[in-house]
Amino acid sequence: MAKEIKIGLLGSGTVGTGVVRVLRENAEDISKKVGAELSIKKVLVRDTSKKRAYLEDVQLTDDAQDIIADPEIDIVVELLGGLHPAFEYMLAAMQNGKHVVTANKDVVAQLGHELFDAAEQHGVEFKFEASVGGGIPIITPLKECLTGNRITEIMGIVNGTTNYMLTRMTEDGSDYDSVLKEAQAKGYAEANPAADVEGLDAARKAAILASISFNSRIALEQVSVEGITNIEPADINYANELGYVIKLLAVAKDYGEKGVNVRVHPVFLPTSHPLAAVKDVFNAIFLRGNAIGDAMFYGRGAGSLPTASAVVADIIGEARNIVSKVPAVIGCTCYNHRKFCPLEETESSYYVRLHVDDEPGVLGAIASAFGESGVSLKSVIQTRKVGDHAEIVAVTHIVQHKHLQEAADILQKLPVVDSIRSIIRVEED
Ligand code: NAP
Ligand code: HSE
Repeated sequence: MAKEIKIGLLGSGTVGTGVVRVLRENAEDISKKVGAELSIKKVLVRDTSKKRAYLEDVQLTDDAQDIIADPEIDIVVELLGGLHPAFEYMLAAMQNGKHVVTANKDVVAQLGHELFDAAEQHGVEFKFEASVGGGIPIITPLKECLTGNRITEIMGIVNGTTNYMLTRMTEDGSDYDSVLKEAQAKGYAEANPAADVEGLDAARKAAILASISFNSRIALEQVSVEGITNIEPADINYANELGYVIKLLAVAKDYGEKGVNVRVHPVFLPTSHPLAAVKDVFNAIFLRGNAIGDAMFYGRGAGSLPTASAVVADIIGEARNIVSKVPAVIGCTCYNHRKFCPLEETESSYYVRLHVDDEPGVLGAIASAFGESGVSLKSVIQTRKVGDHAEIVAVTHIVQHKHLQEAADILQKLPVVDSIRSIIRVEED
């Protein structure tokens, strides 16, 4: 095989190491699939003195220019993480005529449009399959296999760390801090795990998924975000008693004339829902298209080799096009300018957990507060005392978010209400 395609790797951490390993271990098959040898020419790291598995014979550098400006390198693979300097390196690589692959959802969600423009201008490819769902193929299926559909809804478990944490908290009663440490030790969590537990990592992925699904650019700032930091063991127990599990979901819905809404928040999911069975670090993306109906994509959403699987697929895709001299065919697909539907206008059932004075007439006062705001209640339960207070759990019928918010404002001011402990959306079957 005469042709050799040279790769420059920016980063050799959890994902970078996996990419090198997959390219090495599956080299024979990959070269047959591509019609050329793929070789890693140089790798950018911060610490060039550190011993790196599978990279004994590869040049390490701490100067990005060694890779970005190397005329022999065809494909630059960015696995550094963070916005800067990752964005600048990818832009410069494109300006130098290199195809780019990344797993970086920060950059794709916030500066992806600039990279799409640069890729088009310089006639190179830009691929980012691993930026959402780790090893799960979802970007390519949306852009290619499902492109004949109008996508009306996407609901995804897109953060492995929080799904791992919620699963362990639900199944073993583990405490929040120890399961977060476990997720970090397994290489699932971001360098700063606040991005995982506060929902920002999922929000970036939600913005990417929504932009591709609705063919309309959704800015990260438009995505409303709530993470899992306020989930208490009591919420997990009530979910269990009522026939639900708590999951952190990225949700993108088309509300027709009102526009599209994109958000991340915990949800009570019925145990019968397909996403309820998605446990540990697994991710899944459930979508509805006007031709395919419901479909679900499932797999490992984080970790070295699963993420490498998606990165290597993108590398192979670009390498095949280089070999067959095909120019980038599918670039940016955001040809629409959809209106954004405000969160207040969206609808859901809600679970509301309150601590109240334990005295006659309290239930009536609470029911009136919901009633005044036009919120109809499906069920109210009072099972236990917490200190001097009674704990009350109400589940509403489907209401607009703004009406639930009005009810919460009234409840907050009632003298008999000590605190609203949780408000969580309930997804009905
Ligand atoms: P990581 O383990 O922290 O590795 C980062 C690598 O980049 C390290 O090799 C580091 O060098 C190098 N690096 C970082 N900043 C650098 C700089 N300014 N100059 C030179 N080298 C630099 O990160 P990761 O978990 O592999 O994640 C990489 C990307 O994949 C991120 O965008 C992440 O969001 C995304 N991703 C990760 C996962 C996952 O499961 N981990 C899943 C999907 C997507 P040293 O080795 O010398 O420190
Ligand atoms: N921290 C992310 C997660 C890694 O836990 O899903 C994959 O993007």
